[in-house]
Amino acid sequence: MKAIFHGHALVEIQTEHHNILIDPFISGNELCDLDANQVNPDVILLTHGHNDHVGDTVEIAKRTGALVVAPFELATYLSFQGLNTHAMNIGGSNEFDFGCVKYTKAFHGSSYIDENKNIIYMGMPGGILFSAEGKTIYHAGDTGLFGDMQWIGDLNEIDLAFLPIGDNLTMGPEDALLAADWIKADIVVPIHYDTFPTIKQDPYNFAKDVRTGTGKVLKIGESLEL
Ligand code: NI
Ligand code: MN
Repeated sequence: MKAIFHGHALVEIQTEHHNILIDPFISGNELCDLDANQVNPDVILLTHGHNDHVGDTVEIAKRTGALVVAPFELATYLSFQGLNTHAMNIGGSNEFDFGCVKYTKAFHGSSYIDENKNIIYMGMPGGILFSAEGKTIYHAGDTGLFGDMQWIGDLNEIDLAFLPIGDNLTMGPEDALLAADWIKADIVVPIHYDTFPTIKQDPYNFAKDVRTGTGKVLKIGESLEL
């Protein structure tokens, strides 16, 4: 299994038979190395409804027919746009043909702002535990630090964790270091930084300070083989 970081919270996972995009925020992120018209996922996983996570989901899924897995309200909203969706919610897991998805808690908001500036409530935000080919990836989504991360770390053998470090909208680096201690992943990759002026961070500083597991910065477009 291969995990590729494409900026912000966008992580691509390639398994032997599947291409999975988590939070495909592409056209709105000038730092992203992808072209929303060129990607070909068969699965899109969404952590929550914010526009910097839903991103280009509707256009990509309409073009590719990708299955969109999302928290209930968001999945329902996207199904009304004609997408092929699967609704889940926190604490729930499901075994798909591409792997197992479990939604964890995330301490954040979840709404989608449409083109008419309506703020649409999208239920609870989540993090995602994804397992396939004997490996487990934790994508924390957008979240502040919360104590139950210790349980997530105790109950799962996490090979690779993507943790937000941007501060302001999510955990900052200091809290993310505590999160890394609790999650106990082998490899910790920082995400959700530098995209906006309010979330500028030095990811190398964070990665060097990771005490539990190995901190590793993935440049945009860089991948890790698990
Ligand atoms: Ni958010
Ligand atoms: Mn965000």
